[in-house]
Order: sequence, then structure tokens, then C-alpha cells
Amino acid sequence: MEKPKHHIFVCASFRANGEPQGVCHKKGSIQYLQYLQEGLSDRGMNDVVMSMTGCLKVCDCGPAMVVYPENYWYGKIESEEAIDEILDALNEGKPAEKYLIG
Ligand code: FES
Repeated sequence: MEKPKHHIFVCASFRANGEPQGVCHKKGSIQYLQYLQEGLSDRGMNDVVMSMTGCLKVCDCGPAMVVYPENYWYGKIESEEAIDEILDALNEGKPAEKYLIG
């Protein structure tokens, strides 16, 4: 099995009962998933996988996502431009400083 080089976890605010009710979901994190997937594809980043997660406990900074294994924590991802900047930076092997939190 080929393991991914990077794994992006996008907060979808899922609670234990499966209901997405948290801050990131309310601020539209789900609506960027398709754009994120297309962005990976457009850049030929086939070694990156993406998953939706439950609350990452950084709600004040939402919408939030984390990139592993780099441990880049991103917040305030509220536009397609933010996604582009984050993917471009990842593709270049560095963090998108502007959106880092923590
Ligand atoms: S709901 Fe996304 S960090 Fe809490």
C-alpha cells in the first residue's frame, strides 16, 4: 500500500452523533471541500489525501484544517484564495504563514 505524503484534515465540526453543528461547519468549511479536492488534482498532488474531521478544538479560529505530518494548523480559511495559498505552499514544501494558528 502506498501511503500518502500529506494528510489534510478539514474540520467539519462533527459531533459524536454525526451531526455537523460546530463553528467550522457554520462558517462554511464543507463548501470548500470540493475546491480543495480540485485544487489537489489541478496541482497533480496525488500523494495528498483529505479527510473531514470532528471538532479540532480551535473553534475560535475556524474554519480550521491541519496538515500532517508537518503539523501545520490553519485557521480562518474563508475563501478559495486561502485554499490556493495553502496548497501552493504545501506544494513548495513550506507552510502558508498567513493562515497558521497556534
Ligand atoms: S468546530 Fe472546527 S475547530 Fe471546533
